[in-house]
Formats: sequence, structure tokens, C-alpha cells
Amino acid sequence: MSGEDGEERVVVVTGCSSGIGLESAIMCAKMGHEVYATVRNKARSTQLKDRVEKDGLGNVTVLEMDVSSTSSVDDALSAVVEKSRRIDALFNNAGFMVMGSLEDLTWSEIQNQINTDLMGPIYLTKNTIPHMRGRRGLIINMSSVAGKVGFQLSSAYCISKFGIEGFTESLRRELGPRNIDVCLIEAGIVNTKFFENMRRARMSYESRYARETDEMKSVVDRIKKEKWTDPVEIARLVADLVGRGGAECRYVVGSDARYLIDSTYHNRGDCGKMDGAIAEIMAKY
Ligand SMILES: NC(=O)c1ccc[n+]([C@@H]2O[C@H](COP(=O)([O-])OP(=O)(O)OC[C@H]3O[C@@H](n4cnc5c(N)ncnc54)[C@H](OP(=O)(O)O)[C@@H]3O)[C@@H](O)[C@H]2O)c1
Repeated sequence: MSGEDGEERVVVVTGCSSGIGLESAIMCAKMGHEVYATVRNKARSTQLKDRVEKDGLGNVTVLEMDVSSTSSVDDALSAVVEKSRRIDALFNNAGFMVMGSLEDLTWSEIQNQINTDLMGPIYLTKNTIPHMRGRRGLIINMSSVAGKVGFQLSSAYCISKFGIEGFTESLRRELGPRNIDVCLIEAGIVNTKFFENMRRARMSYESRYARETDEMKSVVDRIKKEKWTDPVEIARLVADLVGRGGAECRYVVGSDARYLIDSTYHNRGDCGKMDGAIAEIMAKY
């Protein structure tokens, strides 16, 4: 099986060492597409390689790509284009979150967050578009409820995800007439290593925000124990969009995401109501 038109697509996925990226790369490969599964560091690609081997997927190439490094992105893109001569679909998935107040976050912690979750996808997309020219293209950007609602102690992450929302909407209007669809996936909590990999501002352990940050950390630890959306659900969506070669503007995944967006985003003009809805939801988490 491949695309709806029977053609296999050349797909680039970022952040495939675990979670949503790994499952999406595997799912796209199972659909018969030619997949470039990229990882920040090849030393962390064991889980991916084991899955590729177990499923006998000869159509997956594992490449190193640190999305926060322009030279690493350049090297990986050159390798893709040298082998496949084109790119049909790009899934900007790689990301992480640093938790901490703006005062506690160092400038380099903020930059690292934005370079990974926002500047990385912008640079990679900008340099992928020329390789989509002349064919139908698809760009999928991984967002979050945090791209719609600003949570406390999460400003650096929210900046990045709000940014990816604006980037996507703008680019969608620019590239739609040029036969390239650009879309967003807005997920709630997904059962991956995201919360294990979450970083905490180094200064937050002893600052005036220490207590609030500890409390937020406890919420995260509770969240980790729950079974939320399975990353395979997102992988199925990604593979389906790749197969179709096109997409609507945004896909909200997870009942928590739908609830959060419905009960807070649409109250944006009323900060009191929005604060109440967020407090109610945080208590549930
Ligand atoms: N899980 C959730 O609840 C949730 C909810 C909404 C949105 N999201 C978004 O979903 C995306 C995937 O996260 P996940 O849930 O699958 O978490 P995950 O299991 O932690 O996977 C994140 C992936 O991103 C990679 N990554 C981090 N920094 C990178 C960089 N500079 N260059 C290349 N790769 C990098 C990680 O690689 P390493 O192994 O090398 O660190 C890992 O492969 C992220 O954009 C996240 O913001 C997650």
C-alpha cells in the first residue's frame, strides 16, 4: 500500500528516537512510503532501529538531524535529496519542553527551547519547500494545547507552540495556491517520554518560584502515570494525511485537548473565565 494514487511518497520525520515521531515513521513505512526517520543523535536510535528491524521495513533510512543546528539540517536534507531527489511530505515533530518561570529561565534555556521547537521547523521547512516544487507537497507541524492556551511556568514552550501556529496558518495561505498543504496537529497529553524528557529551569530549585515549580512538577508526575492519548493514534493520522497528500488546517487530538481548547480558547476575551477553566482542568490533571 502507498498513497491513494498508488504512488509512494518520500517522507521526512523529525524526532524519531521515541514517541510520536518514532510511531509516525514506522506507520508511514508500513503504508509503503519511503521514510527518512531523523534523530537528534544516532546514539539514541536503538529503539527506532529495533522496530525497523522487527517489522522488516527496508524503506526506512535513519539519519541524524538536530533541528536546532542549521548545519545538521543542511547535511540531513542533502542526504535525502541525493538519494530520493525530492520530498513529498515533512512532519516537523521534534520537540521538548523546559518548565520554569521567565525569571528563572536563563537566556540560553529560552533560546534552546525556541531554536528546537520553532526556529528548527522554520529552517527545515524553508529548505524543504524547493524540493517539493512541481509535485503535491504536505507539511505537518506538531503543536499542542500549549499553542492555544498560555500556561504558567511554560512561557518558553508556549511561545514556541504559539509561534508554530502562526507560522502554519501564514504558510498555509502562501503555499496552498502552490500545491503544498500545511497543517497543524494540536495534541493534549500523549503517552510518550515527553514528560520524562521535560527539563526544568536550573534556577527554579531555589528561587522565589520554587514552590510553584515543585507543584507543577507534581502535576507532571501525576500526568506521567496516566494513560493518555496513544502516540499510535497520531501516527495513524499522519500516515493518513501523507497517503492523501493533503490536509485541512488543523487536527485536535485527544479528548483532553478538545475540552481544554473548547473551554478556554474560546473565552480568550474573558481572562477571568479562562483562568477558572484552566484551574479546573489543572485540578483534574
Ligand atoms: N507528549 C505530549 O503530551 C505532547 C503533547 C502535545 C505536543 N507534543 C509534541 O509532540 C512532539 C513529540 O514529542 P513526544 O511526545 O513524542 O515526546 P518524546 O518521546 O520526548 O519525543 C521527542 C523527540 O524529539 C526529539 N528532539 C528533541 N530535541 C531535538 C532536536 N534538537 N533535534 C532533533 N530532535 C529533537 C527527541 O530526541 P532525543 O531522544 O534525542 O531527545 C525525541 O525523539 C513534540 O514537538 C512535543 O512538543 C507532545
